[in-house]
Amino acid sequence: MRSERLARPGHAFSDCELAFIRVHLQLMQDRSASRELPLDEQSLGDTPPDEFRRQLHTLADWIADYREKIESIRVAPNDEPGAILAKLPAEPPEQSETFERIMADLNRLIVPGMTHWGHPMFLGYFGWTITGPGILGEMATAPLNVNAMTWRTSPAATELETLVVDWIRQWMHLPNEFGGVVFDTASVGVMHALAVAREEAAPSVRQRGLVATGAPVFRIYASEQAHSSAEKAAIALGLGEENVRRVPVDAEFRMDATALREMIGQDRQQKLCPLAVIATVGTTSTASVDPVPEIAQICRAEKLWLHIDGAYGAGFAIVPECRWITAGWSEADSIVVNPHKTLFVPLDFSVLYVRDLERLRRVFTLVPEYLRGDTVATQKNYMDYGIQLGRRFRALKAWMIFRSFGREGMAARLRECVRLANLFADWIKIDSRFELAAPVSMGVICLRFLAGDLDKIDQLNSEIVERINASGRAYFTQTKLRDRTVMRIGLGNVLTTERHLREAWDMIRSVATELIRL
Ligand SMILES: Cc1ncc(COP(=O)(O)O)c(C=O)c1O
Repeated sequence: MRSERLARPGHAFSDCELAFIRVHLQLMQDRSASRELPLDEQSLGDTPPDEFRRQLHTLADWIADYREKIESIRVAPNDEPGAILAKLPAEPPEQSETFERIMADLNRLIVPGMTHWGHPMFLGYFGWTITGPGILGEMATAPLNVNAMTWRTSPAATELETLVVDWIRQWMHLPNEFGGVVFDTASVGVMHALAVAREEAAPSVRQRGLVATGAPVFRIYASEQAHSSAEKAAIALGLGEENVRRVPVDAEFRMDATALREMIGQDRQQKLCPLAVIATVGTTSTASVDPVPEIAQICRAEKLWLHIDGAYGAGFAIVPECRWITAGWSEADSIVVNPHKTLFVPLDFSVLYVRDLERLRRVFTLVPEYLRGDTVATQKNYMDYGIQLGRRFRALKAWMIFRSFGREGMAARLRECVRLANLFADWIKIDSRFELAAPVSMGVICLRFLAGDLDKIDQLNSEIVERINASGRAYFTQTKLRDRTVMRIGLGNVLTTERHLREAWDMIRSVATELIRL
């Protein structure tokens, strides 16, 4: 309505009429500012479509800018703990805030407070990587927001999960009697695997618990270099952290199979009950590979569950030159692989394979009445394969990434990562002040600075890492091998090139030189 329409020709408005028109016009303006939506749609619904589209475009540009400029930002902040929290309001928001304000705070407070795992100079842990297809996969998953708990609640999510899990199985050269399920992490995977081992060794623990079934003291064996998720699983399953026995390793940090056999024998003599062996393909510190065929033979002879922890290493099976790592896998009862470490899928995406997945289902299936209507018995209901009910649609991102790169594309990238790791090792070998602290395996390099006072070498190595990390120019980790502190580099980020590694090597050498001068 416009004011002219209210006026008759020749009519002069009284003050009262003018005041009324002003109020009315203001009301009209307010309503048009809120697009004349009824109250519930204005404030209780979702963002209006045009506005959402505009925000999405802004976010798309933000993501593209972040990726393009990532190299120009610090790899990690050097703030005191609590510094970020101190800058954020402690009170929860009472009123809505604009997208612009939220984005401004993201840029101003959150991004500078991040350790940027996608930065080409982030060389810590395992160099898992974010990629364009990975980001697109995560974005495509967000609006669907389904719960992949039963086939009926998410038919395509369920069937796609079955498909990508089988693709990975084929890439890992596992026989098709292995079936898989997607979990968030390898730690959760090993816990489920050991739950099946426990149930098969002491039937009805699921029903009656460990005490009522009179279950024996079970023992689990993993190498000294195996991941701590073995103990975490034992804690969660009531098996006891102390019952995970650490088996010594050889000079190349691989499980000593003879020592394993002896430890099993000792335990049997003491009336303890060997349950499972965890063999690792790609240990956390050095990426060493345990002698799986020999371990498998022991497991077969002793009737023990064999779990292979391939959280990091198993993804390398897609590279033909690395095929040797798959020796003995077909003998396993379970194997875990983290595509979020080596197969380009963003965190989180881990797959647990069990020889005959029905063994896992038997331990975890439980259908309450309120889910029975949505449970089609002839179909896969992934809630039956673990403790989680609600499950994200993780398969979509994996499917999009695997199609975008193909096995060849992923293998070529992993091959480059191995080449870079070996190149770095060559540089170390020709500088007498440093030593390779472990054989280079996959994308992992462990090195140690040897110059300076003998009794300060551990501290020096630790300080080199600390100083570089604090500089924000690169990020490494440190670990202990045979009780000595070593620097550790993990490659795998698709943005990390030879130039970045040269910079990293220069940095290590110059900080080391500086430190021994002090
Ligand atoms: C060999 C190995 N196994 C298991 C894990 C645990 O992985 P997740 O974080 O997926 O639980 C790790 C983590 O780095 C690892 O290196």
